[in-house]
Amino acid sequence: MYRAFRKKALGSLILSNAFIKTATFEGMYKNGIPTQALIDHHVSMAKGGVALTTVSYGAVSADARTFEHQMYINERSLVKLQKLTSAVHEAGGKLSIQLTHCGYFSKNKAQKRPLAPSRIFNEYGCLSGIVFSKAMNQEDLERVASDFATAAAALKSVGFDAVELHMGHGYLLSQFLSPWTNRRKDNYGGSIENRARYPLEVLKAIKKKVGTAFPVLVKLNLSDGFKGGFSLEDCIYVCRQLEQTACEAVILSGGFTSKTPFYLMRGAVPLKGLIQNSNSWAERITMAFFGPLIIKKYPYTSNFFLKQASLVRQAVSIPLVYLGGVDSKKGIEQIMDAGFDFIAIGRALIHDADFLKKLEAGTLIESGCNRCNQCVVEMDREGISCVL
Ligand SMILES: Cc1cc2nc3c(=O)[nH]c(=O)nc-3n(C[C@H](O)[C@H](O)[C@H](O)COP(=O)(O)O)c2cc1C
Repeated sequence: MYRAFRKKALGSLILSNAFIKTATFEGMYKNGIPTQALIDHHVSMAKGGVALTTVSYGAVSADARTFEHQMYINERSLVKLQKLTSAVHEAGGKLSIQLTHCGYFSKNKAQKRPLAPSRIFNEYGCLSGIVFSKAMNQEDLERVASDFATAAAALKSVGFDAVELHMGHGYLLSQFLSPWTNRRKDNYGGSIENRARYPLEVLKAIKKKVGTAFPVLVKLNLSDGFKGGFSLEDCIYVCRQLEQTACEAVILSGGFTSKTPFYLMRGAVPLKGLIQNSNSWAERITMAFFGPLIIKKYPYTSNFFLKQASLVRQAVSIPLVYLGGVDSKKGIEQIMDAGFDFIAIGRALIHDADFLKKLEAGTLIESGCNRCNQCVVEMDREGISCVL
């Protein structure tokens, strides 16, 4: 396990160890502007020994938000983000931030026809009155790619050490990759070569704007978690393309927010809290009656993506970040033995920001997180926290 605590290079960036705090939506914003709580949260990660902490869901433009009060990258949010990067650097850590566009996953009423690869029924936001997406035309494709690149450059300028391009979990670039949502007939749809074209163009646009030395990680699904979605074979194809695009590392995850949200957060489904949090009565009633049918539960095991992720590890040489169910000294040893370069952790660090410090000191061998997933409920209340 101690191998993971040695210095590690992420492209040109030297990290103090191999541990990354994965993006977990913090909900620490007021009218889209980060609060002091967001700064404190990431400082606590750096102090706890995480080498690279990741700010979640940096919407690249106003129309990239899933809901109206979410943060997006603009002059006002950048002022606070600069304070955040300074505070984390002072605490000895490094920072990354997700670059995200929601695609058709929108409950943002300012955006009646959210963008997507194709015209799709919006199962995520239909009860908020946003029923269908608009298929992106050439102008949309160019504008959104440019938004990603501009946001990345702005984030670099306020002190971020890296950015993470979100190609997973069913958001816009994942909607292009998935045959379930990409029904285009042009050269952006059909084969995996075509489905991967736009996400790779966005990555190239970012690299061109921020320079090749600035680290860009990509978060990519191992699979969408349902038949007819993005597959492990597709994932290996995309990783091979990423190897040639000079992306610094790929974070392997899985699941599609509107269909298999708990595929990536295995454990309990906190249905009661999710219902209470809903702003729409229609959504509350639907969830109360059909919740268990709509939201499938996946049993938790330690390192739950390790089997699938190891198949990718064996097929490609690009640096890979393992993510999913990292909860113990033994689990970390297995991941290092399987040849992963970095290890990302979510809930064990939400439960205890000093998890890594304690593991390294030998005062703890296993996380106390019980995967109740109440942190998912808390992120939409006062901000992410552990209820235990
Ligand atoms: C409360 C919560 C919020 C999350 N928000 C995000 C997010 O904003 N972006 C993202 O890519 N993943 C998000 N995830 C998924 C995590 O990045 C990670 O894939 C998942 O928690 C599994 O890792 P773990 O077992 O170490 O917790 C979230 C997970 C949790 C528990």
